[in-house]
Amino acid sequence: MSAAPVLDMVSHSPDETRRVGALLGALLATGDVLLLEGRLGAGKTVFAQGVAIGLGVADPVTSPTFTLIHEHAGRVPMYHVDLYRLAGDTDAALIGLQEYLGGNGVAVVEWPERAAGLMPPEHLRIVLLPGEEDDTRLIRLTAAGNRPRELQGALARGTGLRPTV
Ligand SMILES: Nc1ncnc2c1ncn2[C@@H]1O[C@H](COP(=O)(O)OP(=O)(O)OP(=O)(O)O)[C@@H](O)[C@H]1O
Ligand SMILES: [Mg+2]
Repeated sequence: MSAAPVLDMVSHSPDETRRVGALLGALLATGDVLLLEGRLGAGKTVFAQGVAIGLGVADPVTSPTFTLIHEHAGRVPMYHVDLYRLAGDTDAALIGLQEYLGGNGVAVVEWPERAAGLMPPEHLRIVLLPGEEDDTRLIRLTAAGNRPRELQGALARGTGLRPTV
């Protein structure tokens, strides 16, 4: 089996992160799952805001920390999930998380590590890492599965970058 391809991008501002998210969001379809990783304040919600723009979501996207899941109407539904406060997979199962993953819309999951066992094997993992400057972030996309690879390739073409293995 070949290694999962990795696509690295550097963002210099929240707006730039939103633009990358929006490019990706425009490519998404029902069943796609994005896993957003990175420490507190890394920019996961900012990226999710961009995805929402690309999906044609009109309402504001804020952190769903206290409700765990926000559902937004767009070109297809966007399920914005934040598992930061979860204790484990059991909790996640209790909130019916699996219904939202690969379901009738696009799932965008912050802190997927909190329920790693429930994440579908096919997903696009997006890790945001702090850069040298305050407003710089490394955005690293790793594709697991054919459809996520297609998405990654299309995003790479859209941004002029090339995935590496
Ligand atoms: N290049 C950048 N990309 C994204 N956010 C940036 C960037 N530069 C600075 N920021 C700032 O970093 C913060 C990111 O906040 P955000 O809520 O998106 O983080 P988060 O990863 O969702 O955190 P949490 O784990 O608490 O949900 C914002 O205040 C944003 O303005
Ligand atoms: Mg957040």
